[in-house]
Amino acid sequence: MINHHIRAALGGERSGTLLAEAEDAGRATQFRPRPARRVMLRDGSQVVIRQVQGADAPLLADGFARLSATSRWMRFLTPKNELSPAELRYFTDVDHHDHEALGALRRDGRGVGIARYIRHAADSRAADIAVTIVDAWQGRGLGTELLVQLSDRARQEGIHRFTALVAAENEAVAGLLRTMRASLVGREANTLEYEIPLIPSEEEDPVRDGIAYLDVLAAQLRARGWTAYISAPAGRLASLFVQDPQEDRAHGCDIIAAPGGTADDWWYWFSWAERIAPVHAPGAAADGVISALRR
Ligand SMILES: CC(C)(COP(=O)(O)OP(=O)(O)OC[C@H]1O[C@@H](n2cnc3c(N)ncnc32)[C@H](O)[C@@H]1OP(=O)(O)O)[C@@H](O)C(=O)NCCC(=O)NCCS
Repeated sequence: MINHHIRAALGGERSGTLLAEAEDAGRATQFRPRPARRVMLRDGSQVVIRQVQGADAPLLADGFARLSATSRWMRFLTPKNELSPAELRYFTDVDHHDHEALGALRRDGRGVGIARYIRHAADSRAADIAVTIVDAWQGRGLGTELLVQLSDRARQEGIHRFTALVAAENEAVAGLLRTMRASLVGREANTLEYEIPLIPSEEEDPVRDGIAYLDVLAAQLRARGWTAYISAPAGRLASLFVQDPQEDRAHGCDIIAAPGGTADDWWYWFSWAERIAPVHAPGAAADGVISALRR
């Protein structure tokens, strides 16, 4: 996902007005690193996710060296054997406001994934995103986790929507963006452009957000041939009724989406108050529902 804004930023000299320098100096003194977060992925492996720092260039180069040629192509939309010193500097010298990057480190401290946003020059409420997971770590939910955390950071910095320019054949990122309610807004010969709305926290609405999360799970279940429909009575929590197509209604169950106990952490729940999976892992939730109903 490297669009013209990023290319311009990569290639262009920074305009050094006195005002820009003063703003940068102000932000540098205000910046306090956010605490690193330990996260368990769905296969049980653990990573620490933290903001990228200026000293991370060697970590980034090491992670890049462990990417397959296909992953490099998907990320940069061009063949790439290495990151130049200027690129390493650009990708690690982030200001945490217009440009934020979060890295995931495995237990021994080596990098396994990174996600970044770069604010659009012409629209300060929009930012372009890129996410890359080292091949051996793909498919464990790490890309989703990084984008969820990056979305939180972006909201804190006043960003209302992400954009992503991706290779048309990149099915993995298309699936990942679908879980973030992305809409396809542009199509060229070899690329697709998506837009992802970030709901500002002051506009959060538990009923509406619950329905949106259930919608994503319903799509996953229907894709697996299951019956799934949402009921949303006024003034009450919405629920998703799921039924095994091979069984009668007695084998159905209701699911809700609700906060999971810790702040900002929504989960899918069975109606008997058993947690299924976090809302950012609807595929895992669908598997959990199916295996519970077939038990
Ligand atoms: C795209 C990418 C970031 C996905 O990261 P990931 O950690 O493997 O993705 P997740 O495990 O979080 O999967 C999230 C969802 O994406 C979809 N997905 C992931 N890998 C997929 C694949 N190989 N094929 C189809 N869908 C896939 C699924 O819908 C999945 O949800 P589910 O597991 O609940 O079914 C990763 O494959 C990658 O780094 N690719 C190379 C670089 C790249 O393409 N970057 C994107 C452009 S900048």
